[in-house]
Amino acid sequence: MAISTFKCNDSQIQIDYSAQLSIVYLRMKISTMTKALCIISVLLCIISCNSTEQVNAPEASTPSDPHSYARPSEAKATHLSLDLVADFDNKILSGSATYDISVTGGNKIYFDIKDLDITSTQVDGKDVAFSLGDYDKIKGQSLSVPVSNATQQVVINYKTTDKALALQWLNPQQTADKKHPFLFTQGQAILTRTWVPCQDSPGIRITYDADIQCPKELMAVMSASNPTEKSADGSYHFEMKQPIPPYLIALAIGDLAYGDIGKQTGVYAEPSMLEKSLYEFEDMQMMLEAAEELYGPYLWDRYDVIVLPPSFPFGGMENPRLTFATPTIIAGDKSLTSLIAHELAHSWSGNLVTNATWNDFWLNEGFTVYFERRIMEKLYGKDYADMLDLLGFQDLEHTIHDLGETHADTHLHLDLASRDPDDGMTDIAYEKGANFLTMLELQVGREKFDAFLTEYFNIHKFKTLTTDGFKKYITKHLLEPNNLDVNMEEWIHSGGLPSNTPPKQSTRFTSVDQVVATFSATAIPTTTITKDWSTHEWLHFIRHIDTETTPDALAGLDKAYALSDSQNAEIAAAWFQKSIELNYYQHITPQIEQFLVKVGRRKFLTPLYRALKEQNDLATAKAIYQKARNNYHAVSTQTIDALLGV
Ligand code: BES
Ligand code: ZN
Repeated sequence: MAISTFKCNDSQIQIDYSAQLSIVYLRMKISTMTKALCIISVLLCIISCNSTEQVNAPEASTPSDPHSYARPSEAKATHLSLDLVADFDNKILSGSATYDISVTGGNKIYFDIKDLDITSTQVDGKDVAFSLGDYDKIKGQSLSVPVSNATQQVVINYKTTDKALALQWLNPQQTADKKHPFLFTQGQAILTRTWVPCQDSPGIRITYDADIQCPKELMAVMSASNPTEKSADGSYHFEMKQPIPPYLIALAIGDLAYGDIGKQTGVYAEPSMLEKSLYEFEDMQMMLEAAEELYGPYLWDRYDVIVLPPSFPFGGMENPRLTFATPTIIAGDKSLTSLIAHELAHSWSGNLVTNATWNDFWLNEGFTVYFERRIMEKLYGKDYADMLDLLGFQDLEHTIHDLGETHADTHLHLDLASRDPDDGMTDIAYEKGANFLTMLELQVGREKFDAFLTEYFNIHKFKTLTTDGFKKYITKHLLEPNNLDVNMEEWIHSGGLPSNTPPKQSTRFTSVDQVVATFSATAIPTTTITKDWSTHEWLHFIRHIDTETTPDALAGLDKAYALSDSQNAEIAAAWFQKSIELNYYQHITPQIEQFLVKVGRRKFLTPLYRALKEQNDLATAKAIYQKARNNYHAVSTQTIDALLGV
């Protein structure tokens, strides 16, 4: 087959010349008139295809996504109406997904599905047969339905299965209040297809509405307009009027209560968690206003947060209008709210301007980390943001060390074809990405950089962007006008950290470094300075405990600071990791076990199980995991299963 790849309007397009020519051949038989026309059109096509910038390819600017079977340049979904019943007894969602579609070529529309039970499909009201493609263990299957250019609507009737990776059905024991069951979804990166048949590429946007029926003691909420009270009959209607990529479709159902924070902001949580959460997130409206002052209007109307049960596998997930959050950030002292700033910042970077494929993930996360730190700096000062920046940089150094600085996964732009996109979701995208932007800010000055970012969000709102598209845009709108000659290619397409990585400094950590030094020299814990420490100082301290420290000295620290009993999940996790690495953990195994059985946040689980494995204590790791596994979401069990070889 003669396939030619060429660039056109910022994207790579593949033309199958042999297919084109065979279509042409058929037409040529029809009449000589047509023959002449065809020859002219083929010639025109070949001429224009070879001269890059001239081709007008409608919608072909959606680049091909290696993780989706959808062919949006032929047929694209534009609106989804979801109608589902949540059956908690059987742990099944069942109902239909009705799509408004737009067909511009081809005779089928392709959706992504994984482990879904498709029962029937209809096109414009008529039953039609659907086809399923081969099953791939990462991508799942294509679901295709025959359509024509005139087709307007496709209905897919389906049920979820017990393999639906996005879903976690919790029994009452696994919730905070232990009275009612709970369900939540996690769509990013390619899990939405396990509960909704969809064109599951971040390069495709749809609006949606949904009708959800659940038991009447429970409330359903989505990444959409939400209720603030339970309905009498357990039925809920939702609307998401702004177009979003399918990975941001999200649902949670549980015994939820709602409380206001500010005029556009509020919190959903199980009743026993609501007051604590409202206190913790008191500054949320201020955060939103600070974000708007930085980079322009918030375009999603409301911003609420739902505090989920502790098995939620992430810290936070930026589902539009309703961030999903782990309860492990409810520290009682508002010290972990940079996570809220992060998820809020995604309302611009990620949700308004979306990475076109998962290879461009750094465009979502790098911008968001930069933006998050700017919000925190605006509200709590530079000293505060500097601590976050330094802790993030420590994570980045570890990741680069673990991967190796020449590893392709340390490039900002990734190549995740044939791999699980999850593999590319490391600190590189987050912290190296944010450092790249800080470097640019330092070069051009904050004022110009902020104006550039505001315009960047405005121009690309509700659009997707590839790394190439970003490079072209920044070259034209920031680098050239300011005569900046930066090593952008090195940042984006090389490993490790370039030499112009911004320097790091934190004044608040200077006193921590002194305590570290004193403790290393004397093994005596100081208590005078530490009493004013925030979570961040504690993390810096724990991370820097000398590797030569004896288990006895660690026991002394534990006694002085009660670290093993810390109710702050960040501090506890950092301390448990250090205790395992320095062989003190045998004294505190019950606390470690209790933590691992309760909390399902993967960021905490992976380092702890890995540290046990590296201590050659797979037996302890596996014994704990056996008790804990049932409490974890599939995102976490997939990682830990692979780590422990179970
Ligand atoms: N969008 C991510 C979470 C995510 C990434 C889910 C990739 C699935 C695949 C979210 O915004 C995030 O980055 N969460 C972080 C917290 C943040 C403060 C760095 C987390 O969950 O730890
Ligand atoms: Zn993020």
